[in-house]
Amino acid sequence: MLSPTIQEALNKQINHEFYSSYFYLSVSAYFESLNLGGFAHWMRLQSQEEREHGMRLLDHLYDRNGQATFEAIAQPPIEFHSPAEAFQQALQHEDHVTQSINRFYELAVQEKDYAIQVELQWFISEQVEEEKQARQILDQLKMIGDQGAALYLLDKELGERESDA
Ligand code: FEO
Repeated sequence: MLSPTIQEALNKQINHEFYSSYFYLSVSAYFESLNLGGFAHWMRLQSQEEREHGMRLLDHLYDRNGQATFEAIAQPPIEFHSPAEAFQQALQHEDHVTQSINRFYELAVQEKDYAIQVELQWFISEQVEEEKQARQILDQLKMIGDQGAALYLLDKELGERESDA
């Protein structure tokens, strides 16, 4: 049985995941505008992953006979000043998501909801991976600075990312 507290937290996290999807789509559009197709592709796949995260939680809600509330999704930032700043924002965003997942986990422990704890353990591991990826690319962008040839090569590399689905 899903408690009202856990149901509310699940709906909130579902909203965060769909916002994340929207956020990455916006970053992807920024890279499209720079004609950096590899970065845009990478961000588009990230957006798809975030949608899958939202769907995974939504399925958990349905499996437990919960009610979805589908609150409004906020507008993401649409202006970025450099590729490095876009990845800086992505890293910052993932840090917020990690904090949100951790708070949710603490709540699940308090509420003695073991099923959502198991589900959230997957998300906790996923956050480690997502923060690592964003940090690595940000560090590479900082190293590259304004060297166009190196940016071109990184764009090619990111364009090879494949979907996990
Ligand atoms: Fe689903 Fe990147 O958090």
